Amino acid sequence: MKDQAYNLRKKMLQSTSSQAKTIAVVSGKGGVGKSNISTNLSILLGQENKKVLLFDMDIGMGNINILLGGQNNYSIMEFIEQEELEIDTVISKNIHGISYISGGNGLKNIVEWNERQINRFFEAMDYLVLKYDYLLFDMGAGATKETLEFLLAMDEIIVITTPEPTSVTDAYSMIKYIHLRNEEKEFHLLCNRAENKDEGIETIARLQETVRKFLNKEIFSLGFLPEDSTVRKSVTRQTPIIMGYPNSPMASSLRKVARQLLTPDTNENNDTPTFLKNIRKLFFGR
Ligand SMILES: Nc1ncnc2c1ncn2[C@@H]1O[C@H](COP(=O)(O)OP(=O)(O)OP(=O)(O)O)[C@@H](O)[C@H]1O
Ligand SMILES: [Mg+2]
Repeated sequence: MKDQAYNLRKKMLQSTSSQAKTIAVVSGKGGVGKSNISTNLSILLGQENKKVLLFDMDIGMGNINILLGGQNNYSIMEFIEQEELEIDTVISKNIHGISYISGGNGLKNIVEWNERQINRFFEAMDYLVLKYDYLLFDMGAGATKETLEFLLAMDEIIVITTPEPTSVTDAYSMIKYIHLRNEEKEFHLLCNRAENKDEGIETIARLQETVRKFLNKEIFSLGFLPEDSTVRKSVTRQTPIIMGYPNSPMASSLRKVARQLLTPDTNENNDTPTFLKNIRKLFFGR
């Protein structure tokens, strides 16, 4: 047992540079657009020749599969439980230029996993962070003890809110919840479903101001996305908006957000295997 844990730790610390950037898309309130946004941002990064793996972490309610029009019945749990399966088997590939994997129900009990399951999980993660440029995680709404640990490991957290006061309040609670565990964590804020520019800007400014006042923290803005009826149409057609309605207001706004994600962060040190190191804490203590 001990040896295994030691070897894992060693392996992770040795992990080389140019690891995937890990981004979690979260919200306080549900139904604010996380799945549509993470799916389309992934496709846009893919169009810039980045290797992207979209991870559906909305445990039990995952629906990226539907948004992508795919029909993969595997989840990472099958890989973890079935030794004969290769990780590449459970990943759907080249759907609108990206790869996709479902988290599956088992991730709910991630903190109760046994050594064998943990090893298998890291086997997958070690491979994926080297193979891909971006790992995007579409998280469920809110945070549980388990997903919080996962979020703390991410390089970046994108918080989605809508202009609705309840959505903004819940986004704040979410930021606070994560902030209380790690004050260094950086957040990026994105307002979805803005009726107009003013509403988008005001929503972001309001939340930024609240976070500044009560948590003494700056959160970065990724801007806003408009209310756009083509989003619903694209869901019905099971075709991501970027593919089905590339000239819609939502698609052009999403392109602006993707460009911001692609802009190199000057503070970033890509040689640090942050994600693997952080996620290790989930199993081996801190
Ligand atoms: N910009 C938008 N304009 C209009 N409608 C939108 C927009 N964004 C999202 N919607 C609507 O909201 C619905 C929910 O979006 P989505 O499934 O992406 O949210 P979610 O945050 O992933 O939800 P959940 O918390 O249930 O996982 C969409 O099916 C669409 O009808
Ligand atoms: Mg969703």
